[in-house]
Amino acid sequence: GAPVTVPDLHERKRRAEKIVSITSYDASIAARADEAGVDLVLVGDSLGMVVQGHTSTLPVTVDAMVYHTACVARGLRRALLVADMPFMSFRDPATALTNAARLMAEGGAAMVKLEGAGWVCEVIDALKRHEVPVCAHLGLTPQSVHRLGGYRVQGRASADAQRLKADAKAVQDAGADLLVLECVPATLAAEITQELRIPTIGIGAGAACDGQVLVVYDLLGITPGKRPRFTKDFLASTQSVVDAIAAYTHAVRSGEFPAAEHSY
Ligand code: KIV
Ligand code: NA
Repeated sequence: GAPVTVPDLHERKRRAEKIVSITSYDASIAARADEAGVDLVLVGDSLGMVVQGHTSTLPVTVDAMVYHTACVARGLRRALLVADMPFMSFRDPATALTNAARLMAEGGAAMVKLEGAGWVCEVIDALKRHEVPVCAHLGLTPQSVHRLGGYRVQGRASADAQRLKADAKAVQDAGADLLVLECVPATLAAEITQELRIPTIGIGAGAACDGQVLVVYDLLGITPGKRPRFTKDFLASTQSVVDAIAAYTHAVRSGEFPAAEHSY
């Protein structure tokens, strides 16, 4: 099919067609994802944990993101390529513009993703005005792990839920084209999805989001340690990596994944 574009994502929301996304860090998985019909491939800064073996995403550098984004770009023909802006790489608008330019010009990304709202809205606005499409990321923001005190569900208390809703509106108003919601109650993600004009992509955020994303190693059952509630090993019931990614793609499109057992 024709390459997926940023305007296509908005069209998907209007048509109520799910957006399917997985992470990738290399050309081989990227090619398999593309072949399986994934719409959006994210070079996540989860790189720091699942590829580099760190206990958080904080050590990931812009150089590493540019390198892996360029690797993934060579594997893609159709899917939209999104690259994460790592910790501190978007701390002010000027720094964000410099680093986003590298992810796009050297890495080949069509969009960058950054965590947070508040002061981040000013950064989103600057990127948007300089023709950098932006995916926002709210809820459990792993770059905030030390402030949050761990990786856990966000927005359970009603004050937190209200703040999350306000933040979601704020990043949309700042110019974000897309919003990842990570580890928030399914009912809250459903309300945000309904209130926003831009598509939401959930991970541990229930089935009502406009799309879903998973770390590819979770989807393939490779990630060591305890399986997080929101993930599913799609390779367990299929014969190959492409089949597993295709099964995930189908399950997202049909609304079978995530089920209640994968949600909060
Ligand atoms: O870094 C990452 O892989 C992500 C997704 C899980 C949304 O941010
Ligand atoms: Na990330």
